[in-house]
Amino acid sequence: MACSLPCSAQASHPSSSCRSAPPFAKCFVPVSHLQPKRRACVPVSVQAPARPTYETHTELARGLWSEPRVDTQQLISREDLQSLEAELDSGESVKALRRFNDNLRQLPAECWEERLRPVMNELAYNLESFNPAFAAVLLQVQCTIGRSDYVARDGALKALIQPLAGEYGMHNGEAQAKTHRELFSEFYADLMREPLEALLADNPAPAASVAFFECMLADIVGGSGAADPVEKASYALGYNLAIEYLADYEKTWMLDSFRALDARVLAPQGRRLREWLFLEVHAEGEAEHAALGHVAVAGFVPATHVGLLRRAMRDHDRDFAAFYNHLAALLE
Ligand SMILES: [Fe+2]
Ligand SMILES: [Fe+2]
Repeated sequence: MACSLPCSAQASHPSSSCRSAPPFAKCFVPVSHLQPKRRACVPVSVQAPARPTYETHTELARGLWSEPRVDTQQLISREDLQSLEAELDSGESVKALRRFNDNLRQLPAECWEERLRPVMNELAYNLESFNPAFAAVLLQVQCTIGRSDYVARDGALKALIQPLAGEYGMHNGEAQAKTHRELFSEFYADLMREPLEALLADNPAPAASVAFFECMLADIVGGSGAADPVEKASYALGYNLAIEYLADYEKTWMLDSFRALDARVLAPQGRRLREWLFLEVHAEGEAEHAALGHVAVAGFVPATHVGLLRRAMRDHDRDFAAFYNHLAALLE
């Protein structure tokens, strides 16, 4: 399925996915925005988010598989998987997230609302768009029915469903809470002093988020051109892991940046933020999501698919970086 990008570069996409095409950024971001403006890029104050250790992952895995798993083939090694995750630590997305967060923390007091509003318009769509992306990942694994190991498939799905259910306020052993869309709406209304509905009604379509979502979905469904259902599922699982792993950086730093903006700009203007829950639940929850994504890969993906995994993770890293570079430019 071709990416339907709102751009002139689409004609040059030679493949059925976005992979061999020019980077996603070139599809919608003005070229002038691709180069960071010459300004000091001061890293945000926090380091890489703390994540559960591999031992924690193993604990999670033990909870997910109640029966001893029967290996039908050799699975990806712990070392290979950790090495792929480490590549994301020094990837383009982390750089773009630093740039975005620097800009967010340093928004000028006199025009912060004007600059932030179009970014919030993009984020309203983007944050919701991960839900169908997660659903597509689940579907790819489910569609290996009869082709993958029964227990491995079930275990991967048991891990994958948790972050998706959490989006709708569902957590094991707890009453259903507010959905993340409700929490985002409350956060937005508190921050901007207008209902989210006003933003959605006023603003033009969030073109960057729409294009990014179309690329994500085309990638996950297309599986980088793989025809075999298990290969497609491996690609989808790698893509999912990259989403969750980078979301840990994204949300941890976003909370930190809004705290800084609140103290420096909002509080002196009598606009202190009161609705922190959306930012807090994500800053706290993404590390566990990353661990669940790791567990899903570790228990399902064959060692022979390591190249496919790397491609999936790099694909998301590149496109997520382009998206956040676009948001960073909107704040400059
Ligand atoms: Fe969420
Ligand atoms: Fe997540």
